[in-house]
Amino acid sequence: MDIAVTPLDPADDAAAHKACEIMAAAVAADIPDFPPMTEKRFFGMLRHPWPGNSFQHALAYLDGVPAGYVEIGLPQLDNLENAELELAVHPDHRRRGVGRALFEYAMGVARGLGRKRIAGMALEPLPGGVARDPAGGAFAEAMGAKPALQEVRRRLDVTTLDHEALDAMLAAARAKSAGYSLVLWRDATPDDLIDDVAYLDGRLLSDAPMGELEWEAEKIDAARVRANEAVKSARGRRQYNAGARHDESGRLVAFTTIDSGDLTWHAFQQITLVEPNHRGHRLGALVKVENLRFALAHEPELRVIDTWNAGVNDHMISINEAMGFRPVDGWQNWQLSV
Ligand SMILES: CC(C)(COP(=O)(O)OP(=O)(O)OC[C@H]1O[C@@H](n2cnc3c(N)ncnc32)[C@H](O)[C@@H]1OP(=O)(O)O)[C@@H](O)C(=O)NCCC(=O)NCCS
Repeated sequence: MDIAVTPLDPADDAAAHKACEIMAAAVAADIPDFPPMTEKRFFGMLRHPWPGNSFQHALAYLDGVPAGYVEIGLPQLDNLENAELELAVHPDHRRRGVGRALFEYAMGVARGLGRKRIAGMALEPLPGGVARDPAGGAFAEAMGAKPALQEVRRRLDVTTLDHEALDAMLAAARAKSAGYSLVLWRDATPDDLIDDVAYLDGRLLSDAPMGELEWEAEKIDAARVRANEAVKSARGRRQYNAGARHDESGRLVAFTTIDSGDLTWHAFQQITLVEPNHRGHRLGALVKVENLRFALAHEPELRVIDTWNAGVNDHMISINEAMGFRPVDGWQNWQLSV
């Protein structure tokens, strides 16, 4: 069996379609409840990469047949010693060394650029949860990586929301958050909030539990927030945001985002952050519940929302559970020294 790994140029339509087919087959086999990898989504990610990063891609051919794909993320503004891998092998071509060949290729790239660590995610089943193929974790371990941080994906079925429970959460949050005002916005951040959003966004990786994962806080300023927004818009994503403004200082001190796209039945609950000096006022619950209703008002076809939390993030998890989010599967962050 012959395995050849070749770099993929994002502008090469034919190669990009091959990569998309591999990713779509992997997602369908490994995470069947997940939004399928559509061409719109795949090409959006490939052709509109996140700012502050550079990406390299490669395809692996097994006896001439496209069999595996890797994306190597190389942060350019922070995490300069880190690289991030997304690697998938078509379900029909597994256990033949394709994953290893792509991994070795990516190691060569990372090493050549002076990166010291590689991180990547793999699915794992949760006790009592849905079945998940343990291949990703077994593969990462075989490559010498160590589990560094387990995240749990939780899903909210918005067709069975308990509106009374949400009303009670909001009432309790409002009672504890006198002196703060709710702000709602879609897509682009209003100019008067942008510096505060950049500051809060930049805190995420230092405030959220990171376990053993060596990943530093991202350097985010207003320009990077705008550049991220441009990418989301180019990818056809729609953002719903709710924030809490501290009346006395006028600063935005908490915010949360729900992100939706071409598959209108599905959305991601993204960042939620409350500035440490303003915790204890139920601002997290306030912005999350308000934002859920904001998104639902504009997304009539929405059925499910997925969110990820570090397994140890008790506070955020308790808000999510109270809203009705329930665990689905584990997403382990693996890390290895290059
Ligand atoms: C994980 C994945 C990339 C492996 O690809 P692959 O081409 O089957 O991997 P390889 O054949 O190169 O396997 C290399 C080694 O990994 C280990 N491994 C891979 N799959 C395994 C499995 N299902 N069970 C146990 N060990 C496994 C073995 O040690 C294997 O060596 P061996 O076959 O000589 O025993 C593939 O299963 C996949 O795409 N999974 C979904 C996406 C994913 O989890 N990506 C990895 C993120 S870190």
